[in-house]
Amino acid sequence: MNVRRKYLLPAIDSIVVFISFYLGYWAITPSFKIYKFETLFFSSVIILLAYHSYAYFKLLYRKSWSFDMLAEYFNVIKAYSYAALGTLIVQGVVLNNGYYRAMAIAWMFSVLVMIGIRYVWRMIHVAERIFLSSPTMNGMELNYIQEAFDENWIAPLGENVNGFEKAICDHTGANYAVAMTTGTAAIHMALKHLGVKEGDIVFCSSLTFAASCNPIIYQNATPVFIDSEEETWNMSPRALEKAFEQYKPKAVIVVHLYGTPAKMDEIKAICDYYGVPIVEDAAESLGATYKGKQTGTLGHFGIFSFNGNKIITTSGGGMLICQTQEEKERITKWITQSRDIARHYQHSELGFNYRMSNILAGIGRGQMKSLEQRVQTKTAIYNYYKKAFSDIPDISMNPVSEHDQSNHWLSCMLISKESKVSPEDIMMKLEQKNIECRPVWKPMQLQPFFEKYDFINHNESGISVSEDIFNRGLCLPSDVKLKDKDLKRIVDIVRSCF
Ligand SMILES: Cc1ncc(COP(=O)(O)O)c(C=O)c1O
Repeated sequence: MNVRRKYLLPAIDSIVVFISFYLGYWAITPSFKIYKFETLFFSSVIILLAYHSYAYFKLLYRKSWSFDMLAEYFNVIKAYSYAALGTLIVQGVVLNNGYYRAMAIAWMFSVLVMIGIRYVWRMIHVAERIFLSSPTMNGMELNYIQEAFDENWIAPLGENVNGFEKAICDHTGANYAVAMTTGTAAIHMALKHLGVKEGDIVFCSSLTFAASCNPIIYQNATPVFIDSEEETWNMSPRALEKAFEQYKPKAVIVVHLYGTPAKMDEIKAICDYYGVPIVEDAAESLGATYKGKQTGTLGHFGIFSFNGNKIITTSGGGMLICQTQEEKERITKWITQSRDIARHYQHSELGFNYRMSNILAGIGRGQMKSLEQRVQTKTAIYNYYKKAFSDIPDISMNPVSEHDQSNHWLSCMLISKESKVSPEDIMMKLEQKNIECRPVWKPMQLQPFFEKYDFINHNESGISVSEDIFNRGLCLPSDVKLKDKDLKRIVDIVRSCF
């Protein structure tokens, strides 16, 4: 527990409780003449003891940091109320002299001051919080937003949307890109374009965020989840091969987890053999390369996400990578409510409102200028952790193949099967120090909503690779704003667990 929180906060609370107590009595009779000495003195000791006993048994100081703000306030109110009530009872029974009005004033004053202190305390603490991967603006975004304002091009479409799509194509070498409201929308449109419909099967990586497979359900199709392999944590070619022996899918969604490229050559060879197109979910891997080629451009369609925690962000947004002008035009029409080219409002097909706004695209254009630097920074963070934990046999970092460049969106660690330390222990310890970290994605076959769908295990029997990674894995802070002292702090805390 934070030492300041352990000693300083209880000390401040004690002073507040003490002062408020006398203040309550003073407010009723400023001269204090009507009160007996023992009533005042013993009562102030009793209220202090009662307050701290309650706080001690309820772990108020130890646990309250993990409570949310309102829960913490509520606990303080409860602690003081019980203490005040207990004191009044003792005054009434033992001293035969309870001053209810004085206590009510003391209660009000104490509670207000203690909540105020906690509010300020949290504000200071939140400023110090270390985040997993929070948005980082470079300032250049404002120029593009200003242009959009100057030209009154606030609504969807406009120079920024075109410019952002071009910047993504220039960086990744993609043929065409379509900016959308989210990465999920981009997967949805890719599946729709591939003709995925009711009754179709779609294979999808099992170790991922639910956004990868939700669009399969939007299209009323059926997902089949494919396990991971240990070398990249991504879709296992062996499990994929097994899945193809049982099913004929309409598409395969391959995720590049945490920015690390999947084994695309093997996966593509299998999909090509069966003539099934790949949708690359590169939501987390913008800037990563597989054998020299950018992820997102290796399948039939690719998608990126610019959600707040991604390597670059537009606060919310996504991009679909496609091969031809015809695909781009068709999808662009769908995502602008499928308006036909006609003066009147005419729609021959079902439409969607998925187009990215010109303002958000302006943020994206500015963010693109930092992409390369961010890949370098995130790689340096990964290498820092790797080196810092290299002498602890129980810890290994998420693996990356040597001919690929991960963008290291999130650095993750895996704890050995033999270790007595669990990811939960480490997460609790980091959280107590105001450091955000997260479990590895819970695999889809273990999700209550998706567990009814088939899952193909990489192993012949027993626990799957994805479940094993979930049980033993942990995502460490990987924010590009992390300073050396932050990294050192994180490493020291993690090391202290082993
Ligand atoms: C693997 C993966 N796929 C898809 C998405 C969906 O992206 P978005 O949040 O932009 O819809 C995300 C991120 O949120 C993701 O991590």
